[in-house]
Amino acid sequence: MSVPISIKIAKVVPSGATAVAVGAFSDGLSKVDGVRKAALDRAGFTGAVGSTLVLNDGDSTRVVVGLGAFRQAGPVQLRTAAAAFARVCGRHRKLAFDYPADLDIDRADGVRAVTEGLILGAYRFDTHKPKASERPSTDSATIAVGDDVRAVQDAARRGRATAEAVCFARDLVNEPGGTLTPTVFAERSAERATEAGLTAEIMDADAIAEARLGGLIAVNLGSEEPPRLLKLTYTPEAAADTVVPTVALVGKGITFDSGGLSLKPAESMMEMKNDMAGAAAVIGAMTAMPALDVPVRVISFTPMTDNMTGGRAQRPGDIYTARNGTTVEVLNTDAEGRLVLADALVLASEEEPDAIIDLATLTGACLVALGAKIAGLMSNDDDFAEVVADAATEAGERVWHLPLPADYRAALDSPVADLKNIGAGRFGGALTAGLFLQEFVAEGIPWVHLDIAGPSFLAEPDGEYPRGGTGFGVRTLLHLLETWGAGDSEPEDLDTA
Ligand code: BES
Ligand code: MN
Ligand code: ZN
Repeated sequence: MSVPISIKIAKVVPSGATAVAVGAFSDGLSKVDGVRKAALDRAGFTGAVGSTLVLNDGDSTRVVVGLGAFRQAGPVQLRTAAAAFARVCGRHRKLAFDYPADLDIDRADGVRAVTEGLILGAYRFDTHKPKASERPSTDSATIAVGDDVRAVQDAARRGRATAEAVCFARDLVNEPGGTLTPTVFAERSAERATEAGLTAEIMDADAIAEARLGGLIAVNLGSEEPPRLLKLTYTPEAAADTVVPTVALVGKGITFDSGGLSLKPAESMMEMKNDMAGAAAVIGAMTAMPALDVPVRVISFTPMTDNMTGGRAQRPGDIYTARNGTTVEVLNTDAEGRLVLADALVLASEEEPDAIIDLATLTGACLVALGAKIAGLMSNDDDFAEVVADAATEAGERVWHLPLPADYRAALDSPVADLKNIGAGRFGGALTAGLFLQEFVAEGIPWVHLDIAGPSFLAEPDGEYPRGGTGFGVRTLLHLLETWGAGDSEPEDLDTA
């Protein structure tokens, strides 16, 4: 497990810092503190968000970090810039980020974003690279804010809680399927959640059978590893004397997806330790809720199994019964995520929550549609979709609203069961998967499905996202839930949908 760097807030850049970041606006290159515009021009530095120019001056390294155009610069740009700085200076023990004094945004929001960016950019996964972890790496970073240090301490604390949750999700995703078995995944998560003050309940194979989670059982048939379902509950302090809304979260936790008997080609299988990124994001977000004083009750359901090819594996054509009694003909065992999510959505619906959000690395089709950097968002409620999409944008995570066309639902009709698990042909595969899930969300509950197959795992670092597991979704969930009831996301607004 990686240890996140520590963050300090100070008036000025401390003398011990060996690498100092100074922000540059693309339309203010002549006003960069201590650097001549000619030098920037010569290096081809434009001030684009997340670009960096490293200037060595004896013992100290100055890094000019691009913040984009002055008028557009806000928390999203600051986070990306701070992360780019921390990544290029990953071998410096002590960093400092000179907070841009002239920036015309709420300073607490800005400091929080910089805190998140510094921790996220310094993230490394070297659990299995002992030699790499012996080399020097960043221990701490100071944000120099000029004055009134106390006013932004809490913002930094919140930023730290958020970034640590993201790093925890990344660690879980990066851990290979052979070591992060469902048993280990559930235990490691439950332990961390309990430490954070949540209640954790692990359902084992017997409890899963007892609860008739037919989809989770069907997917697990080909595995030597028993399945798990982790349920976490966060109860806000306010729940002691008032009625608070309840939000349910669901995450796909396939610890490795071979495709089952509908086996994946070798090429497609290489990244499939990532197939539990939805569960990791949900669990990561849950662990930060007490620190962020989230005002609503949150319950999470994360079904966990691998999808393997053992002798008892489900066969294409097999039919199982889901928890809500729906029968499903499994024509492609590689469309397994929707099977385990279906049962979890039924469990979530039974809590009668005010809203449900699921996160899943569900379809390659979503990657085809939106590329690797943008998640697909589908919903049964346009107003709630808007609320979640806005939260994502504000949190600096990119999502795009895709439709769930009612007439496409017929593609899931089966001649021998209530549903089949794939549509006809490969076109619109992200939507077919979303429509399948929708069948298991109880009538009247606003629900959003985020297909994070692309942005949850990257081949190359991008902004605050590292190579490998990114923890995508944690920030969106936390921002949404932290601000629930303030303005747009008022649950009352949803009732009018
Ligand atoms: N885990 C995959 C989806 C995936 C693909 C995630 C690429 C990340 C990167 C999922 O279980 C899957 O295999 N989906 C199939 C569905 C198809 C058989 C209907 C797919 O997308 O090909
Ligand atoms: Mn699959
Ligand atoms: Zn999968």
